[in-house]
Amino acid sequence: MGRFEGRVVTITGAARGIGFAAAERFATEGASVAVIDLDESAAADAAARLPLTEGAEAIGVGADVTSSPDVDKAVTRVVDELGGLHVLLNNAGITRDNLLFKMSEDDWDQVVGVHLKGAFLMSRAAQAHFVSQRYGKIVNLSSISALGNRGQANYAAAKMGIQGFTRTLAIELGPFGINVNAIAPGFIATEMTDATAARLGLSVEEFREHTARANPIGRVGHPTDIAATAAFLAGDEASYITGQTLYVDGGQTVA
Ligand SMILES: NC(=O)c1ccc[n+]([C@@H]2O[C@H](COP(=O)([O-])OP(=O)(O)OC[C@H]3O[C@@H](n4cnc5c(N)ncnc54)[C@H](O)[C@@H]3O)[C@@H](O)[C@H]2O)c1
Repeated sequence: MGRFEGRVVTITGAARGIGFAAAERFATEGASVAVIDLDESAAADAAARLPLTEGAEAIGVGADVTSSPDVDKAVTRVVDELGGLHVLLNNAGITRDNLLFKMSEDDWDQVVGVHLKGAFLMSRAAQAHFVSQRYGKIVNLSSISALGNRGQANYAAAKMGIQGFTRTLAIELGPFGINVNAIAPGFIATEMTDATAARLGLSVEEFREHTARANPIGRVGHPTDIAATAAFLAGDEASYITGQTLYVDGGQTVA
């Protein structure tokens, strides 16, 4: 029996990258999965590619996590169409990197909006279901950039904000059987880091090789590394873990 059989997992920003890898992982382990992303057809395509087990279903939902009406509609649709909600992975994210003196208000608002407001709106909508059933798991995506990263004042502030948000929800929701944790990935090979390579004037391969050399484990991270961590934190074996941020970075932050 799959670890997530009978569970409904909602993942934001799951049309590609880490979110899609997590959707694949939860599907493999028996979950029904809602793929939420900006573009409904990209979300539906991703949902159609998931390796579902017997009896499980997947849907793709188009929603902008910074829009309260979108979020409320999306969560209602998940519960109606998949029959409940047990796990929320707040994964949707963007970068708008720039040094402080060149960072626009829009760069700031967009990044803080998607990461912080997005996680807030999704968690608020999900908790209504979690509290009434006295069960739920929230996993938020932070980043090693929370510790400070040149050119990412907006992103670092948002990702450290996610850690405070995670700790606070753990305190508020723990009494209702809800665990709230965060993952802080290091470099993970996705379109997000490929775009950073382009901004730095490096090829994708050069950027990955350079990053791998500086990492104690000697490789870059893959979306499956984060998917495995999300599955662990969302599983019942981790039910005594809450309010934590787990750094999954090949040792980059301890080197
Ligand atoms: N790739 C890395 O190295 C890395 C490292 C640390 C943390 N993270 C975090 O992991 C998460 C996933 O990153 P990724 O590398 O897979 O990124 P990605 O750019 O490949 O995918 C992000 C997804 O989020 C979606 N999205 C963006 N804004 C949205 C919105 N307003 N509403 C709904 N969906 C939205 C995008 O359409 C996209 O499908 C992000 O929160 C990111 O900050 C990534």
